[in-house]
Amino acid sequence: MAKIISGKELSAKLKADMAAQVAEFPEKYGRVPHLVVILVGDNPASVSYVTGKAKASETVGIKNTTIRKPETISEEELLSLIRALNEDDSVDGILVQLPLPKHISESKVIETISKAKDVDGFHPLNVAALWQKEDCVLPCTPKGIIKMLKAAGVGINGKRAVVIGRSNIVGLPVAKLLLDENATVTIAHSRTENLAELTRQAEILVVAIGRPKFVTADMVSEGTVVIDVGVNRDAETGKLCGDVDYAEVEPKASVITPVPGGVGPMTICCLMENTIECFLAKH
Ligand code: GUN
Repeated sequence: MAKIISGKELSAKLKADMAAQVAEFPEKYGRVPHLVVILVGDNPASVSYVTGKAKASETVGIKNTTIRKPETISEEELLSLIRALNEDDSVDGILVQLPLPKHISESKVIETISKAKDVDGFHPLNVAALWQKEDCVLPCTPKGIIKMLKAAGVGINGKRAVVIGRSNIVGLPVAKLLLDENATVTIAHSRTENLAELTRQAEILVVAIGRPKFVTADMVSEGTVVIDVGVNRDAETGKLCGDVDYAEVEPKASVITPVPGGVGPMTICCLMENTIECFLAKH
């Protein structure tokens, strides 16, 4: 029986602590932090994530403005909106929900957000700072994963960690954060040969490949710590499921994160933390 790390419970505790902190801001700084979230189009998953971000903001006492734009918005119009928000002193954090429609360049959008308001930690200057071990806003999902491991008492120092997935949002930055905690890190992906042989050597396995129930029991060893970043729909049941076949893998794992209620809530929690960090950096 694995120990289950509830991201839902841990994030609730962390958000309560942040709420107490933010409650003092009006007196100390004259206002609360302000996060602006931009959603282009109406992708159901993105709508759900953006709603979650607004709810968490309310819990923590952060002002949230969600700006919805149609799928047809031009790249220039979106970039102009971001530039205006960069100039607006009442705005501390800007998040553009990804993915964006094909006619809009994600990298141009990310580069246009001011580094100081980049609560996602996606701006090239923040990415560079992460890889140079300088102070920076850390990407929310990787930051949340490290917090979960630490809260569960998982020692990372000297451990063999395997990350499946090499995205800019999760795979690469979580590998770097694990490396900074002195894990020995291997990044695997869809083209990795003999993947199961590799993942069976992992003491910590982080899965962010975006394929439902991709990691099966034969791919993990007894006692592995399993972090499941996936959010997928199970084709058979229509229910949310992760990248890990939870029913199969949980009995072998020593520690595991559920989907839903695992990494997802921690990502949002870290977004709140990053918004507060950006606010405090200004004050
Ligand atoms: N889409 C999926 N995850 C994320 C995230 O962490 N930030 C943004 N901006 N978009 C996302």
